[in-house]
Amino acid sequence: MSNEVKVLGLFGSPRRGGNTDLLLDEALKGAAAEGAAVEGIHLSDCRITPCRECLGCFKDGVCVITDEMQRIYPRLLEADIVILASPIFFYGVTGWAKAMVDRVQALWARKYVLHDPALGKEGIKRRGFFISVGGTKGQRMFEGAILTVKYFFDAFNADYTGELLFRQVDACGDIRKNSEALPQAFAAGRKLVSDLRNTKCV
Ligand SMILES: Cc1cc2nc3c(=O)[nH]c(=O)nc-3n(C[C@H](O)[C@H](O)[C@H](O)COP(=O)(O)O)c2cc1C
Repeated sequence: MSNEVKVLGLFGSPRRGGNTDLLLDEALKGAAAEGAAVEGIHLSDCRITPCRECLGCFKDGVCVITDEMQRIYPRLLEADIVILASPIFFYGVTGWAKAMVDRVQALWARKYVLHDPALGKEGIKRRGFFISVGGTKGQRMFEGAILTVKYFFDAFNADYTGELLFRQVDACGDIRKNSEALPQAFAAGRKLVSDLRNTKCV
């Protein structure tokens, strides 16, 4: 890990300028304000084929499908902090986000089938953070997505270090009606970087 903290933001909503986009933009601004190098990828702009379960990756940890996921794998592995933002779609993450999550099976195979030390206990520890919103007030609304995201992060050695979740946010841009939400996202991005830096300095 170099001294520069790298933050990767994954935008999981197909709605540009929507609620999770706004939140993730703020989180990335907060991380940049703390001196991190930030990059954002809009998953709905990427052509990511769903996993075919061919198990080709069990041989060498490399996915056989040659699409835009191939440029996301190195980004995940280079990042110190990965922030995934996805609205709740039917009690899970969006299809755009889930296609990417399933393709991380190649990294899961590197870690758990091929026992790649880079993804083992001695490997680099990354940090993961989840941002989500849902239109209703369902109490269990985020449970499915949180489990998916935890195991997504685990595949590339990222700890699930926190989350920002908002209920009853539905129309595009409604998140702005909560005056605390965007400042919370900015502060979360900032804190993720400063916490990591403090740990590295110890
Ligand atoms: C296909 C689809 C499924 C959805 N499923 C849920 C759901 O299960 N629970 C919920 O509370 N909201 C659900 N919503 C509402 C979205 O979570 C909500 O509109 C959110 O603000 C969208 O975030 P965005 O602006 O970042 O795209 C759904 C919306 C769509 C389009």
